Amino acid sequence: MLLLATATTGQVLSVKDAIVSRHSIRKFVQKPIPKEDIDRIFELVRLSPSAWNLQPWRFHIVTDTELKESLKEAAYGQQQVTSAPAVVIVISDMEDVIANLPETVHPGLSEERKQEEVANLSSFFNGLSVEERGQWGLTQANIALGILLTALQGYGYSSVPMLGFDQEKVKEILGLPEHVKFAAMVPFGIAESEGYEHHRFSLDKIVSYH
Ligand SMILES: Cc1cc2nc3c(=O)[nH]c(=O)nc-3n(C[C@H](O)[C@H](O)[C@H](O)COP(=O)(O)O)c2cc1C
Repeated sequence: MLLLATATTGQVLSVKDAIVSRHSIRKFVQKPIPKEDIDRIFELVRLSPSAWNLQPWRFHIVTDTELKESLKEAAYGQQQVTSAPAVVIVISDMEDVIANLPETVHPGLSEERKQEEVANLSSFFNGLSVEERGQWGLTQANIALGILLTALQGYGYSSVPMLGFDQEKVKEILGLPEHVKFAAMVPFGIAESEGYEHHRFSLDKIVSYH
C-alpha cells in the first residue's frame, strides 16, 4: 500500500517498484487526475520504441461521465470503466502514419536520406493490406501499452488494461476510423481496492537458454 502513495506525495517509484507493485485495480478513488500528472505520464510513454520509429500509437483519454457510461456499456457493464476518473483508449493508427511518413524520419538525416527512407517505407507498407498494416501497428502500440501501465504505476496511479469490449461500439462512441486497432482500454486512477496476488509462471517455463 505504501508504494501506491506516490500520486499524493509527488514521489516517483523506481522501475522495479513500479513493476512489482502493479496489479490490475478495478475500484478507484473518486478524484479527478491533475492534467500535469497525465502530461508527465504521457511524456514518458511518448518515448516508447517502435520499428522504424513509426510511433503508430494514439491515446484517447476520456474523463466525461456520460462518455464513460457509454464505454462501460460497450465493455459489457464492467464497473471499473465508470469507477475510474479517467480511461485511456490505446489504439494504433497506421493509416495516419502512412499518410504522414516524412514526420517519422529522423530530423538529423540529410534531405536525400530522408527521401530515401520515405520511399522505402512507402514501398514496404504499400505491399501490405490495410488489415496487415493494422496488425503490424498493433504490435508496436502494445509496447507503448506496457510502458503506460508501468509509468502510471510509477506516478502513483493504478490501472487495469482491458480488451473485453465491443470494438465497433467504441469506435462509434469516440468517432474513430474503421481501420484503427485497439491495444487496450485502460481505466486508471488512485486505487481504492487491492488487486490479486501475482500469479505468474516460473522462469523455468518462460526462459530458455540456447
Ligand atoms: C490485453 C489485456 C486485456 C485484459 N482485459 C481485461 C478485461 O477486459 N477485464 C478485466 O477485468 N481485466 C482484464 N485484463 C486484466 C488481466 O486479467 C490481468 O492483467 C491479469 O489477470 C494479471 O493480473 P494483474 O494485472 O493484477 O497482474 C486484461 C489484461 C490485458 C493485458
